[in-house]
Amino acid sequence: MTALAEPATTATPSREPAVPDMPGRAVPAVLAGVAAVGLAVLLSGPGTVLLVVAATAVAVPVAELARRLRAQLGAAAALEAQRQDLVTRGRSTAEELEVATRMMRARAQTMTSVIDAVTEQSIIGTDQDGLVRVWNPGAERMLGLPRADVVRLRTITDFHAPEELSPEDGPELDATGRFAALVRVAQEHGSDVRDWTYLTADGRRLTVSVAITPRTDDDGERAGWNFVGTDMTEARAAERLKDQFVSLISHELRTPLSSILGYLELVMDDEEQPLTAEQRQYLSTVERNAQRLLRLVGDLLFTAQVDAGRFTLQPEDVDLAAIVRGAEETARVTAATRGVAVAVDVPAEGLVVRGDALRLGQACDNLVSNAVKFTPAGGQVTLRLRTAWRDADGALADAAGPGAEPVALLSVSDTGVGIPSGEQGRLFTSFFRASTARRNAVPGVGLGLTITKAITTAHGGTLDVASVEGRGTTFTLALPL
Ligand SMILES: Nc1ncnc2c1ncn2[C@@H]1O[C@H](COP(=O)(O)OP(=O)(O)OP(=O)(O)O)[C@@H](O)[C@H]1O
Ligand SMILES: [Mg+2]
Repeated sequence: MTALAEPATTATPSREPAVPDMPGRAVPAVLAGVAAVGLAVLLSGPGTVLLVVAATAVAVPVAELARRLRAQLGAAAALEAQRQDLVTRGRSTAEELEVATRMMRARAQTMTSVIDAVTEQSIIGTDQDGLVRVWNPGAERMLGLPRADVVRLRTITDFHAPEELSPEDGPELDATGRFAALVRVAQEHGSDVRDWTYLTADGRRLTVSVAITPRTDDDGERAGWNFVGTDMTEARAAERLKDQFVSLISHELRTPLSSILGYLELVMDDEEQPLTAEQRQYLSTVERNAQRLLRLVGDLLFTAQVDAGRFTLQPEDVDLAAIVRGAEETARVTAATRGVAVAVDVPAEGLVVRGDALRLGQACDNLVSNAVKFTPAGGQVTLRLRTAWRDADGALADAAGPGAEPVALLSVSDTGVGIPSGEQGRLFTSFFRASTARRNAVPGVGLGLTITKAITTAHGGTLDVASVEGRGTTFTLALPL
């Protein structure tokens, strides 16, 4: 290191001449003195000896003094080296600090420019008490107030509809209580996304989907809160309109359809005026299609209710074995016509779960009707019902493991067209139909599985699929016991 090499050049040269400069020379000097004395004794006799002894007595302490001085000089040089070292280190620390500061500034600049570039979403940052510290152009646009009028001057709850932040039947809370209500769920779960009503500067009310997350400082301490909002006012209004439209249409279609089916039944069952075979065949086709329309209308209405979160269950004790037998009965005629065999394997003593009998029947019917319609002639459909165990990770097993819960397991297997593995993830999306269904021109609109999944989830259950294209499919529905 240069710092260690430097003392030779920095030692003060002016002090050097006072002492011999190198330790190696001290010993020869003393030896030279002693030799000189010996020579003098030999040459000059005893008188001179005394003089030489005196000179030698002075030379020895001088050499000792020189040794100490040299030691002190050595120590001083070492100290200087340390000082240099410290100076160098200090310099590099200062440089590192400057680089780090520059990087921090650049990062902050990037963050600010990103936040400022967001104009469609409001990004609002507050301190721990809700005082606004960050207010991006998106917030300016959405709420109609410039940053200068808000930052460090207003709390975020000023922009929230107060009735959403106070208990419905209690008194209105103060600003602190309102802010605590706003971040309560995010505090408990780490984040929260939901719709809130924002109040704009010009008095409009906006439905905003707000993601609330805590913000921490460099030490991991909580520094405040982030609120990222997307204006959903128009989207929510459109959703409401769509729901109203679907409900209205479904209702309006259902009434005439019920009337058509009712009169059809009267005509077909009229013993006084029996129909010809041909008439009966025509009217059977009318009836089948009217039933199909009725089911489609019912499915549409139900899907709209699920989407709107307006679907409720009427729970009671339900024997799943009876439901499975009922589904087989419903599918029997179609299966026989198509040449598909249906086998039922359910416990003779039944298997009772808590649930909505009508909805569970609908879920089971959907799975069985799919199995029958996606299985070509000569194929086999098997309905199996048994108890099993679901562990904490959701995996199903035949025996109880630690923390496992008992479940009723209904599986519907077929030897049909199957579903390509890449498409299986989208099966529970409304109107999705796999390529195997479209290719084989199997009729349907793609609502049955969405409905089945919604019913299963509402019962705290799970619905899984295993399928191999061209080989067959198994849907497994597990319900808590
Ligand atoms: N057992 C099955 N075998 C093969 N493909 C299936 C099976 N069950 C469902 N699918 C695939 O999943 C898609 C969605 O099923 P879903 O029941 O929701 O709709 P659908 O039967 O086509 O119409 P809908 O039930 O509304 O009359 C089907 O179109 C089909 O591609
Ligand atoms: Mg279906």
